Amino acid sequence: MIKIKIIKKAKELELAEVNSLISQMSLTKVSPKPMTLPEYRGMLNQKHFFFIAAAGKVSGNQEKILGILSVYFTRIPIGLIAWAEDLLVDAAYRKWGVGRLLMEAAIKLARRKKSRHLNLRTNPKRIEANKLYQALGFERMESNFYRINMFK
Ligand SMILES: CC(C)(COP(=O)(O)OP(=O)(O)OC[C@H]1O[C@@H](n2cnc3c(N)ncnc32)[C@H](O)[C@@H]1OP(=O)(O)O)[C@@H](O)C(=O)NCCC(=O)NCCS
Repeated sequence: MIKIKIIKKAKELELAEVNSLISQMSLTKVSPKPMTLPEYRGMLNQKHFFFIAAAGKVSGNQEKILGILSVYFTRIPIGLIAWAEDLLVDAAYRKWGVGRLLMEAAIKLARRKKSRHLNLRTNPKRIEANKLYQALGFERMESNFYRINMFK
């Protein structure tokens, strides 16, 4: 059975699982840097931030994190809006419905908080993700996405 939970407290063992998951995130060969425990704690302690995880017992009795999704809320002049970031399901457990469950939990949360939008961005190369979002009713918005890379 897959359980959806919001992680509030930073635990070292759980962080190891989260770090192993985020190493699968990048489309390039460069993996994101693993989080340290203080960084993880700092992330979880952010106000209006929700770290949603899907957990399940895949072998034996040990529960494992199968997927993650970050959601944060912010108040801007037009109202409260939400952003979903970094949906990721462990490559070994894809096509089990985990990604859908995580995003449905985010939609439910945004609805409960009376957020005006739930926004997300995704690379067009992420075929599975684009299919999932459209299946869940996300509309594709025309927009130019700009960024300054502060590390360059
Ligand atoms: C995108 C991702 C989260 C989907 O997770 P998942 O648990 O495998 O997805 P689900 O099993 O819940 O599938 C839900 C829907 O997604 C779409 N989908 C998922 N995998 C797919 C695939 N291989 N091909 C086509 N569509 C797919 C389908 O619409 C599917 O619905 P269906 O089963 O009724 O056809 C997962 O593939 C992943 O982690 N990818 C790498 C990271 C990523 O791209 N994240 C998104 C960043 S914005």
